[in-house]
Amino acid sequence: MTTVQPIAWSEAGVRILDQTRLPGEEVYLDLETVDAVAEAIASLRVRGAPLIGIAAAMGLAAAARDRAARGTLPPDWIAEAADLLEGTRPTAVDLRWALDRMRRTGADGCATGLPAEEVARALHDEAQLIWDIEIGMCRSIGEHGAPLIEPGSTVLTHCNTGVLATGALGTALAAVYVAHEEGRGIDVVATETRPLNQGARLTAWELGRAGIACRVIVDGAAASLMAAGEIDLVITGADRIAANGDSANKIGTYALAVLARAHGIPFFIAAPRSTFDLALASGAAIPIEQRSPDELPTAPHVQVYNPAFDVTPAELIDGIITDAGVLRPPLEEAIGEYGGRKVESP
Ligand code: MRU
Repeated sequence: MTTVQPIAWSEAGVRILDQTRLPGEEVYLDLETVDAVAEAIASLRVRGAPLIGIAAAMGLAAAARDRAARGTLPPDWIAEAADLLEGTRPTAVDLRWALDRMRRTGADGCATGLPAEEVARALHDEAQLIWDIEIGMCRSIGEHGAPLIEPGSTVLTHCNTGVLATGALGTALAAVYVAHEEGRGIDVVATETRPLNQGARLTAWELGRAGIACRVIVDGAAASLMAAGEIDLVITGADRIAANGDSANKIGTYALAVLARAHGIPFFIAAPRSTFDLALASGAAIPIEQRSPDELPTAPHVQVYNPAFDVTPAELIDGIITDAGVLRPPLEEAIGEYGGRKVESP
């Protein structure tokens, strides 16, 4: 299995693997302040919906420890730090899920009059718990997803949804890892994932580390591969899933879902509880992150449209692989039932 470690506690704060440098260089950065963690998330040094929630929580906890050691840890400081971190990336709701837990922990500690060091300790424990919960949920996603992958079949996936995106086994890639562990002899096709190439740079790198066969294709090659009968199923992750099952994920996911339906290929989303936003009735309300035009080199003075995510309508999704099992259409009903269940602490 993989030895990739995209995040860790460090003496000074939080240590991250700088994913912007992969696959060429394996560079680790020690982040000591809330600003440094916010910069790392905004610039995709650390990325992937669950992992940015974990990184934000750990960064907040580490900065709180430093602040407490210097005297005070006012509730306003915790709230402002959480707001700053939450503002870095608007689509992945896992970030808000993790920071809401941190806000509650900080507010409860301050309200009960705990000394600053103890509030900081509670924040550290909560951040570790958030990470542990994601580890458990990703493993369960893998176990529920692997049986969908027939022995000898080829899975197409988009972006990076593995260890690098979760600090755990992954979401879509968790199913791949477990299928590989079970000896199902599967092949993976990874889309390049323009414009930042998370598939070509990151998925290929981490699957290579795990010894899993992977072919990288340009995004535009998916249709012809499907037409040639070379793809048996598609599994992607999600950054936010609305109550009706509409799912936001890396730009290009919607196109893959349309193509999969046109070719009669099953299309699955894989996501943990932290990715569901049941307050949103449909995907129309999901905020879509617009990224810098600089990510698309072009001629000077040309206008660029660079949304980082798109929304796949629920009707194109054959199932959502969750920590509690595979949700099948009608998704709204299945999500309603799943949403009522509590995320278990490890
Ligand atoms: O912009 P990124 O690289 O953070 O986008 C990541 C994805 O789109 C993943 O598919 C998503 O976070 C879900 S998988 C953990």
